[in-house]
Amino acid sequence: MKNTLIFVIFVIAVVVFLFLLPRKEVPLIPANEAHLQTMTEQDCLKKCHEKGTKAPLSKKHPPKFACFKCHKTEKEEGR
Ligand code: HEC
Repeated sequence: MKNTLIFVIFVIAVVVFLFLLPRKEVPLIPANEAHLQTMTEQDCLKKCHEKGTKAPLSKKHPPKFACFKCHKTEKEEGR
C-alpha cells in the first residue's frame, strides 16, 4: 500500500516536471525564394544547413533530421 502511494506521488512529480520544462520556440521556415525551392529535407542540409555550407546549424541545434517535423513553413502557419 505504501509503495502504491510512493508510485503515485512519483508519477505526479514526473508529469509536473515535464509540464514545467521550457518549451523552445521552433523558428518557422522563411518564405523566401531559397526556401520555397527547397522541397526535401536532404536539400535543406545539402544546400545550406550542413557544416561547411553557408548557413550551418548551430552546435546546440536539436536532432538534425526530419526538419519538417519541427519546422513549419510560414504558409502552413497561415501568415
Ligand atoms: C526536434 C525538432 C527539430 C528538428 C528535427 C529540426 N529543428 Fe531546426 N530548430 C529547432 C529548434 C527548437 C530551434 C531553435 C534553436 C534555439 O533557439 O537554440 C531550431 C533552429 C533552427 C535554425 C535556426 C539557426 C540555428 O541553428 O539555431 C535553422 C536554420 C534550423 N533549425 C534548420 C533545421 C534543419 C535544416 C533541419 C533538418 C536537417 C532542422 N532544423 C531540424 C528544432 C528542430
